[in-house]
Amino acid sequence: EKGGFEHFMLKEIYEQPRSVRDCMRGRIYPIEGKVQLGGIKDYADKLKNVERIVVIACGTSWHAGLVGEYLIEEYARIPVEVEYASEFRYRNPIISEKDIVIAISQSGETADTMAAIELAKERGATIFGICNVVGSSIPRITDAGVYTHAGPEIGVASTKAFTAQVTVLTLMALYMAQQRGTVKQSDLVSMLTELDEIPTLIEQALKSDEKIAEIAEKFKDSSNCLFLGRGSGFPVALEGALKLKEISYIHAEGYPAAEMKHGPIALIDEDMPVVFIATKNSSYEKVISNIQEVKARKGKVIAIVTEGDKTVKEMVDYIIEIPACNEAYLPLLATIPLQLLSYHIAVLRGCNVDQPRNLAKSVTVE
Ligand code: F6R
Repeated sequence: EKGGFEHFMLKEIYEQPRSVRDCMRGRIYPIEGKVQLGGIKDYADKLKNVERIVVIACGTSWHAGLVGEYLIEEYARIPVEVEYASEFRYRNPIISEKDIVIAISQSGETADTMAAIELAKERGATIFGICNVVGSSIPRITDAGVYTHAGPEIGVASTKAFTAQVTVLTLMALYMAQQRGTVKQSDLVSMLTELDEIPTLIEQALKSDEKIAEIAEKFKDSSNCLFLGRGSGFPVALEGALKLKEISYIHAEGYPAAEMKHGPIALIDEDMPVVFIATKNSSYEKVISNIQEVKARKGKVIAIVTEGDKTVKEMVDYIIEIPACNEAYLPLLATIPLQLLSYHIAVLRGCNVDQPRNLAKSVTVE
């Protein structure tokens, strides 16, 4: 059942080239530069004119929502707010029939997310779901939706469900861009052509597994860890930190790299590992200066870099390479090494990676 892997989590990490591919199947047409999402096609007109989108979710699904915010705002130019379902439901949110709410949930059973959907529905919003478990509760109470098709996720720590959620949000952002004309047709062709290659690039990213296991040896006894990134690297940092804390019980924090100097920098010393998302994209130079700030204080730096990068390599203690890709798809690749890093650290610490203490696969109580 674990397909030769020692744990479900590792099996599910390795399934990602396939699960991301399955998620895109029949939905992208690179040659035509077209995205087709049958689940929400009845709302094409509403999407053309909508003035605001609100995303509600919990945990890892909320991190996927933050990636969605970057993508939808960048490509479809629609303002997006991302809220924890548990906060949204208790704070009399301003929401009306003009809004579209996107609820994200792997299990489709999370109590807080369901309650937030009910509240938004009462106020007349249109609700889309992004769920993995077919026929679960959330898809039954939403107006429309897009399944992630990642297949059953057994490991309590979400891995392939996260990348599938990000894939659906990418498809939604490009679909909205297509409806609204905010991305040129020729750019849609090239973006979809590159998206089609992402499963192959995920496969390449998985090849760093052995190297990551060696890096894990060096950090298995740490009691804290910081994860820093900018732009869509920030939600990736949050997700990396969540993975590490939930399965290895090491205290970890994700931060936007620029926020470091507003507090967390006080924590940096020779015992503090800092994981940077330092790939070659629009924030590369800025991230490099953040790395310098950490090195000046003797922090230990592990950097996720673009294949072939030499500048960052010379500055840091360890690098993990991922293939170059369009900045829009960075979260789909940069998340992979972070999943592997937390997996190996947790195994080395003797933790039960598939069933971490105090956690349940679906949180059906508030
Ligand atoms: C983290 C994790 C949780 C879930 C959260 C929401 O690895 O699994 O943070 O993401 O409980 O669950 P769903 O997506 O089922 O609503």
